[in-house]
Amino acid sequence: MINIGLLGLGTVATGVVEVLEKNQKNIEKKVGEAIKIKKILVRDINKKRNLPYNLPLTTKPEEILEDSDIDIIVELIGGEEPALSYIKTALTNGKHVVTANKEIISKHGKILFGLAEKAGKNLLFEASVGGGIPIIRPLKECLAANEIYEIMGIVNGTTNYILTEMTERKKEFGQVLKDAQRLGYAESDPSADIDGFDAARKLAILASIGFNTRINPAEIYTEGIRNITSKDILYAKELGYVIKLLAVSRKRNGRIEASVSPVFMPIKHPLAGVNDVYNAIMVTGYPVGRVMFFGRGAGKDPTSSAVVGDIIEIARNKNNCKNVLCTCFVEKPVINIGETESRFYLRLQVEDKPGVLAKIAGIFSNYNVSIHSVVQKSAEKATAELVLITHMVKEKNMKLALDEILSYSQTLEVSNVIRVEGDV
Ligand SMILES: NC(=O)c1ccc[n+]([C@@H]2O[C@H](COP(=O)([O-])OP(=O)(O)OC[C@H]3O[C@@H](n4cnc5c(N)ncnc54)[C@H](OP(=O)(O)O)[C@@H]3O)[C@@H](O)[C@H]2O)c1
Repeated sequence: MINIGLLGLGTVATGVVEVLEKNQKNIEKKVGEAIKIKKILVRDINKKRNLPYNLPLTTKPEEILEDSDIDIIVELIGGEEPALSYIKTALTNGKHVVTANKEIISKHGKILFGLAEKAGKNLLFEASVGGGIPIIRPLKECLAANEIYEIMGIVNGTTNYILTEMTERKKEFGQVLKDAQRLGYAESDPSADIDGFDAARKLAILASIGFNTRINPAEIYTEGIRNITSKDILYAKELGYVIKLLAVSRKRNGRIEASVSPVFMPIKHPLAGVNDVYNAIMVTGYPVGRVMFFGRGAGKDPTSSAVVGDIIEIARNKNNCKNVLCTCFVEKPVINIGETESRFYLRLQVEDKPGVLAKIAGIFSNYNVSIHSVVQKSAEKATAELVLITHMVKEKNMKLALDEILSYSQTLEVSNVIRVEGDV
């Protein structure tokens, strides 16, 4: 019998309880012994729970963390504290740990893997990225033979839902966000999702594993989707693109590029068709080439699939700890965003006068910004809207060019600047 101590009984933990109960016989056959939830830590013991089982609840963490009969601690509280302290205590007390907590793994992975290694126990976190999508273990194990060049993905379901709704229903960001909050797809404080921080934590985990170097979320250039308008989405469509919040990291001359930002993605790119709350991650490496992982990136059922998968993995190897621990064995610095190169979509409002376009083209040329295409959209009164796509350009050159364009008397507004990503 393998005993589990569950920390938390919210959305994901409820799913874990259900799966362990509903698939009990099957799981027992796969593991070779029964898995039992011995105790569950909650904050409020009197809260009404949506579960038909008699559950062994407690509000005292020590009843779980200090219980020598408990083999695996499953942390599903979320946030940094007290979850981090509980995980540290569990590992120090010689217990395996499963967590879905991307914040903790992305920020404190190094110290936690150190503790796990010292204890000879496993710390698994499949559910921390991509919900039900298997990506952590495939990266660490199935793709271990590869040199990874690039990891790019749509890893936040809330923003993908919002962008899909804006695209399909031609609605503005604010309206769709309100609908998403009403439907439970966005939090009442949506910042972590829509400002890109959630995606940056997930990318930090993926890139650290893929490139074998520790990357902190704070090192990742992060931009959210608040500034995307229905006009940008419309122009993207006209030009053969869709707008996605993309997490992307790639190896460049021994250093790492890592960013989260909205991008123009060619309609034919495999990630362009990933819609609604779905997530997908594309990994490119040698010798595998390109592989893509797709599925539901959040929610009770998909996430509990990943958590219970980790529990089973540990239970199967309980006495033969595989120690698939920290794989960050080299130091590769993250490149400052200003030094990276990208193509850009730009939307500018300028005075509709002769010579203005030539002047703007001249400023771009001074900063080595080469224009791939330019379209003048229908003008309002004396205003012209310019929609440009550039060739590859260094970010800092683009910034300098835009600063000068903004200071030019005939420029009324730089309405949006969005990176263009993805070879088809
Ligand atoms: N929800 C998803 O779709 C999803 C997807 C991927 C990963 N995750 C990750 O999974 C983890 C859990 O998420 P969730 O959505 O299931 O969270 P949740 O619904 O908010 O549940 C949190 C649970 O933790 C308990 N809790 C909170 N603070 C506590 C404390 N100080 N002491 C004891 N118990 C405490 C709460 O107890 P009470 O019930 O008594 O209030 C609740 O049962 C997070 O790390 C999250 O990032 C979630």
